[in-house]
Amino acid sequence: MIKRLLIVLCVFSALRTNVRADEGMWLVSMISEYGQKNLSELGAEITPEEIYSINSSSLKDAIVIFGRGCTGELISNEGLILTNHHCGYASIQQHSTVDHDYLKEGFWAKEKAAEIPTTGLTVSFLKEIVDVTQEFQDAIKTGVSEPKRRSVIDSITSVVKKLYSDSVSGYDISIRAFYSGNKYYLFKYQVFNDVRFVGAPPSSIGNFGDETDNWMWPRHVGDFSLFRVYCAPDGKPAKYSAKNVPYKSKSFLPVSLKGYEAGDFSMTMGYPGSTDRYLTSWGIEERMNLVNQSRIKIRKVKQDAWMTDMMASQAVNIKYASKFARSANYYKNSIGMNLGLKKLDVLNSKRKLEKDFADWIVTTGSQDKYGETLNKLAQGYEGRAKFYKPDLYLNEALVNGAEIFSFAGKIGLWASGRKHMKVNPGSAEIIETIRDFYKDYDVSTDKKALVAILPVFFGEIGPEFIPASMQKVKSGKMSVEEYVDKLFKNSVFADSTRLISLIRKGKFGKLVLDDAYVCYNEIRNLRNNLESELASYADLVSAGRREFEAGLKEMYGSSKVLSPDANFTMRASFGHVGGYSPKDGVKYLYYTSYSGILEKEIPGDREFSVDPRLKLLFLSKDFGPYADKDGVLRINFLTNNDITGGNSGSPVINKRGELFGLAFDGNWEAMSGDIAFEPKLQKTICVDIRYVLFVIDKFAGATNLIEELKIVD
Ligand code: ARG
Repeated sequence: MIKRLLIVLCVFSALRTNVRADEGMWLVSMISEYGQKNLSELGAEITPEEIYSINSSSLKDAIVIFGRGCTGELISNEGLILTNHHCGYASIQQHSTVDHDYLKEGFWAKEKAAEIPTTGLTVSFLKEIVDVTQEFQDAIKTGVSEPKRRSVIDSITSVVKKLYSDSVSGYDISIRAFYSGNKYYLFKYQVFNDVRFVGAPPSSIGNFGDETDNWMWPRHVGDFSLFRVYCAPDGKPAKYSAKNVPYKSKSFLPVSLKGYEAGDFSMTMGYPGSTDRYLTSWGIEERMNLVNQSRIKIRKVKQDAWMTDMMASQAVNIKYASKFARSANYYKNSIGMNLGLKKLDVLNSKRKLEKDFADWIVTTGSQDKYGETLNKLAQGYEGRAKFYKPDLYLNEALVNGAEIFSFAGKIGLWASGRKHMKVNPGSAEIIETIRDFYKDYDVSTDKKALVAILPVFFGEIGPEFIPASMQKVKSGKMSVEEYVDKLFKNSVFADSTRLISLIRKGKFGKLVLDDAYVCYNEIRNLRNNLESELASYADLVSAGRREFEAGLKEMYGSSKVLSPDANFTMRASFGHVGGYSPKDGVKYLYYTSYSGILEKEIPGDREFSVDPRLKLLFLSKDFGPYADKDGVLRINFLTNNDITGGNSGSPVINKRGELFGLAFDGNWEAMSGDIAFEPKLQKTICVDIRYVLFVIDKFAGATNLIEELKIVD
């Protein structure tokens, strides 16, 4: 135990001398360890205290968790939040109808009274980070089994959470493992739920280039949207109320019109969701051949079915826009990641690292501690493959594929708890849930998706993993079309009027016997069985991973700082503005400009049409104060900050602590970056803040918003 603590201390003290730009998503509370000297060497004028401080206001007070998986930042002292268009997308979609299609037309509140309250959207401020590793280490005895370890961790987690919640009420507390369970930190958040939609450009600006350009450079997208956080008059979080007032955060970001050059310092702050930089070769094979492959195969056919209907109907398009984007984003990411992992030969460099690790164990006599580590990983990953594959396919094809099964599951589970009751408590809420679901659901689109998915699903896994009610289709006794037709014809879940009426009458027994719900239960049982088959292998994997990361830290000593994998906690990364070379003979510039939008224009196209008013502003070069020194309006730019999904909406901050861009994407050539950082290739793609202001001011005429900002020139 003491030795392990020493290792950790060793590594952290190494941070002080070893910080560098590019790789590393540093936990914000660790930045003071870097010291002012390191930051200045990178070109920053701001101090670590100005980035993260518990006692006085710092940049961290201007950064929020936006919704469930994005970052946002405060840009005025009236609670105005800037994030990506693709982060606000679900809320914008939720409020769109064929008559008020905010996705298509955009939306601008010209006064606070016109802002649109959202439902289910929250904004969270980080209040404090506490290192609670010691509490966990004291409780976990060395050598305990993985299941025992998990249960100790669960109980310590709730004890520690309670300890901290008692002192400050009204806060959300979460505890996260770092370095695969070698460290633990506690996070205190204040969560606000009166968040209102303030403005967004039309998708032809906010999502220009859509799936074709997604994950690619060169890029030309105004990927931003605006929201406002409100609180009770006393400053505390409160449910929506007309009496609420705009929240004044402890700090907000000034906006810079000064622009940037290649080589300028850049810092991002935000919430990277997950990376797997210490994944071993066996884990990479699993990721490529099972996880990514199942996603690629199933989503392809599902998305094609959706898109056909989306193209044919504006109503279906609005219903499926956000679901489609979410699915397509990691579909394309998985393709790119597999290509990148192969091209950059990540598997072999990992095998080499594993060989070095094995040699190091021998030379240092560390067999007692690490002698079994690589074996555990090999056995764990190899052993679980035959169960993991069907589990992944059941999930992609049926749980996330056809919507009817998980919907039937949700409502059916609720009903099964009530089937013997005379009264039916909670009906009003469940009817609300059904209406919400149906707002974004099209029965005939879902049918087509299931018809497309099933043959692929059957082709990938053995008959023993196919739900019983689909066996006759798998064996060819019934056609896929016949099965799907019958399922949808008989199921009450495919008919919201019938469903709601049955619930009103309290006829829950009918829901529980429904074909779709029966099939949902078959899926659930199959997956539960698979998961218990998997469990012992998964334990080998988790123990192996934890040991491997601890061992690597020992092996590198102070020669290399290992930055913690992303886990949706607030991180900062440091870098510089600059282009890259995607392949031999090609060099990419570090920014794009308005003329590129005109070059890409395809009139009437779903992805590449240009709004006529935007075009007019471009052609007359009416850029106002937002053009660069040379009179050109810049659109997007590149830095080498280390970010990943979840960082979307993160501020890009200059050496003085001012906002000059908004991070929104990564680049195609380095899609393997979540597993192995590529210093020469990996880039963050950002919107130039001057394009954001140009769209708000010149395109939308929302000068009310511009007036709120603190603009530095
Ligand atoms: N690749 C971006 C990210 O993960 C999201 C882009 C969303 N746009 C889209 N067309 N799917 O942050």
